[in-house]
Amino acid sequence: MGSIADDLRRWVPVLLATWRGLRREVRRGPRPPPDALLPEELREVAAAVQRLSLGLTRDRELAGARYLDDDRLLGAYLLFYWPVSYLQARGVLSELPGRPRSALDLGSGPGPVAFASLDAGAAEVLAADRSARALAAARRLATGAGEPLSTREWDPQRRAGLAGFAGGRRFDLITMGHLVNELFQGEGAAERRAALLEEALGLLAPGGSLVVIEPALRDTSRALLEVRDLLVARGVTVRAPCLFRGACPALVRPTDWCHAERPVEVPRLVEEIGRRAGLRKEAVKMSYLVLAAPGEGLSEPPAGRVFRIVSEPLPSKGRLRYMGCGPEGRMGLALQEKDVTERNRAFERLLRGDVVEVTATEPRGDGIRLSAESDVRVVAAAGRPVPRRSDP
Ligand SMILES: C[S@@+](CC[C@H](N)C(=O)[O-])C[C@H]1O[C@@H](n2cnc3c(N)ncnc32)[C@H](O)[C@@H]1O
Repeated sequence: MGSIADDLRRWVPVLLATWRGLRREVRRGPRPPPDALLPEELREVAAAVQRLSLGLTRDRELAGARYLDDDRLLGAYLLFYWPVSYLQARGVLSELPGRPRSALDLGSGPGPVAFASLDAGAAEVLAADRSARALAAARRLATGAGEPLSTREWDPQRRAGLAGFAGGRRFDLITMGHLVNELFQGEGAAERRAALLEEALGLLAPGGSLVVIEPALRDTSRALLEVRDLLVARGVTVRAPCLFRGACPALVRPTDWCHAERPVEVPRLVEEIGRRAGLRKEAVKMSYLVLAAPGEGLSEPPAGRVFRIVSEPLPSKGRLRYMGCGPEGRMGLALQEKDVTERNRAFERLLRGDVVEVTATEPRGDGIRLSAESDVRVVAAAGRPVPRRSDP
């Protein structure tokens, strides 16, 4: 298997061909290139991406609206958001303890998360969404790439949730990519979202996982953490990213939130569209949860004093600091430059999402301070499964 970025590059011509199929204009002249946009195509996509970006992230007017039934917005989704969702999903699926066989993608849209599951080793995926047009685009992509995808129309707000959804079928993996924040807006949203996730957990085979990916925005991230807390209080096991078992410490202060980042390059096409649409450089950032199928119980965190790094490096005069979150909670981890040694040098290169074990620390301010005697060991790099205590 090649790298995730290589896997995505193979999708670019398929996405472009599907996007061109959605456009109504009859084109004269030479065939456009299979892996790049013509200047007038770029202009058109960038304008639609601007509309989508404004509606989904800034004024949020499109959240929950039927934007994928509009061919221009669906097209913009395919060429700009699809590749990013794909990379986010691959960056989370790589944390699963094993390869899923059968998968269900809820709120699939045109299927970036469904295809990410297939590329991550799933043998078959059922994609479900309320937008028939988005599902048709997903089927066209599946045909173009020769992938085994089936689709089904589904609207959790209309019918009785997932009851009778799959005729008793069980899945190894259920995914929800950027769906939860679009459902059940307003009062009682967290409760209703938690109820839907619990229902989805009921469709998992033993050992299976429910993966929820949400945008890396403070409000949608905090809303996901609230849902997490409701589920944790009902005994649901969080596989990732949390090592802390109690109520989320990022909800204590209203300005805190939690997101992940994966160091993957987005394709040139996405970069070009983003630049043209005047958007910030797209990095692969998301908030996410991986929940375990019921009955699995809690697995012990790795031995020692472990933390997941939940911030970027926070350098200040003479010291480097990160926020970490581990079995004992969320706190600052700091190392003075003068205390850097071979044993703790790894601290200088930690990435958001890495899980580290630290030794020989002392309490300091709102957290702990490492010393020249501290060892720093990366137990699991960002995006890799955290070994359980019983693993070799
Ligand atoms: C932002 S898109 C996400 C698509 C894809 N999963 C991804 O991660 O890129 C949100 C999806 O949620 C779907 N959606 C929103 N409200 C829905 C509802 N009430 N029922 C079913 N799907 C819904 C939309 O049709 C859309 O496909």
